[in-house]
Amino acid sequence: MATGVDQVKVTLEPNDHPYRNGAWTPVFEEVDTDELEIIGTIPADIDGLYVRNTENPVHDSIGRYHPFDGDGMIHTIRLRNGKAHYRNRFVRTKGFEAEQEEGGPLWVGIMGKPDDSKRKGWGAHGSIKDSSSTDVVVHAGAILSTFYQCGEGYRLDPETLETIGTADWVPEDGISAHPKVDEATGELLFFNYSTKAPYCHYGVVGPDNALKHFIPIELPGARLPHDMAFTENFAIFNDCPLYWKPELIERNLFIPAYHPDEPTRFGIIPRMGQPEDIKWFDAKPTYVLHWTNAYEQGDEVVLDGYFQNEPVPPPLTDFPAGYESMGASIDLHSFKPELHRWRFNMKTGETKEETLFNDYPVEFGMINQQIAGKPYRYVYSVTGEPGWFLFNGLTKHDLETGEAEHISFGEQRFGSEAPFIPRANPQSEDDGYLISFITDMAQNRSECIIIDAQDIAAGPVCTIILPHRISSGTHATWASAEQIAR
Ligand SMILES: [Fe+2]
Repeated sequence: MATGVDQVKVTLEPNDHPYRNGAWTPVFEEVDTDELEIIGTIPADIDGLYVRNTENPVHDSIGRYHPFDGDGMIHTIRLRNGKAHYRNRFVRTKGFEAEQEEGGPLWVGIMGKPDDSKRKGWGAHGSIKDSSSTDVVVHAGAILSTFYQCGEGYRLDPETLETIGTADWVPEDGISAHPKVDEATGELLFFNYSTKAPYCHYGVVGPDNALKHFIPIELPGARLPHDMAFTENFAIFNDCPLYWKPELIERNLFIPAYHPDEPTRFGIIPRMGQPEDIKWFDAKPTYVLHWTNAYEQGDEVVLDGYFQNEPVPPPLTDFPAGYESMGASIDLHSFKPELHRWRFNMKTGETKEETLFNDYPVEFGMINQQIAGKPYRYVYSVTGEPGWFLFNGLTKHDLETGEAEHISFGEQRFGSEAPFIPRANPQSEDDGYLISFITDMAQNRSECIIIDAQDIAAGPVCTIILPHRISSGTHATWASAEQIAR
């Protein structure tokens, strides 16, 4: 049963944009259904919610379109007692509602000229729409969708997907994508970044959804951190040498430039620390989109993430004119990310770093979140389709043995981030499942697949056919029944 279709005004016409076609074709119906074809058996011990955010534009863009501009649409599958319920809804952001009222676009995207926006506000630098379409977590009993250019953070009801509103603890400069939920404490750790000194802030929200801590993180200028990390006692921030050209920011233009002669800097601060408690470490220049985990070991803080071998790759030659550099910037094969480890000695100030695996391109890592912030063994990454921001398979890395196991999703089949679902009473760190949505272009449909994390080579133990083919997107999460209930 499709609902809400009449309420959403869609003016986007078919067009030849590489990221509004194929596996990125937006979907406009909002559906609620438990009438789903199931191949195999949904494991009876799974009880929770898989949540995926997607960029799903309903209007054409003002100026050039970037796939990260699209309106946020959340897709969920609720699994319980061997049954499944699928639901999807647009995030009713202020920008989305204003454009619905207008009947067309009001803001440029990140490739546009900000001065061309018809309205200001709801963006990190005041001119682009907060689409809330990048990341998604579940915290304090609600889904929280976020935008990587810093937005307000929207809370949605995990059962109905109704947009409840913006999170009331969000500061003036907004919050970035990738707030972190520590399952051990129920806290949410967040950061933001902006073009105004001190350029970054850090905060902690309690399990009761109340702001517990908020401090400035002083940076040398406007920076573009995408993710943060945490251990049991510390929060970790990064200052990579890829940032907007300062002289252009003054003209309201936001063009990133890489500075390979500058170090990557890491700031480590006690989770409830004050600005003067932060310790900074230098490391090799790179850019990192995502961290997999961090933990403490003796005097060291250990951080793992995806080191980019080519943060500013050459443009794709076979992409439509005007989109060659954009295409390369989101193609894993172009920027070549690989699993990397940094060790920061909190006593001596020394940094050590090493490549963990040479099997790039891998990115968008998931771990067993029950041990986030603690020593861990397994990372589940996705692999990229050459030339595209599409995920064509999964790699399980064993950080203890150095072994890696890979599966392909199949020809013209593209997945999402595949969070780990722990079994009840797990016997080991990888005792559980991986879950993903697949967009299958050959069969013109989407699926939810569930894989045994201890035997990924065996392929899905269960496949649930979704009622429509959904667009590809960026981030996803898993929340247990207990987390939803909080
Ligand atoms: Fe991200």
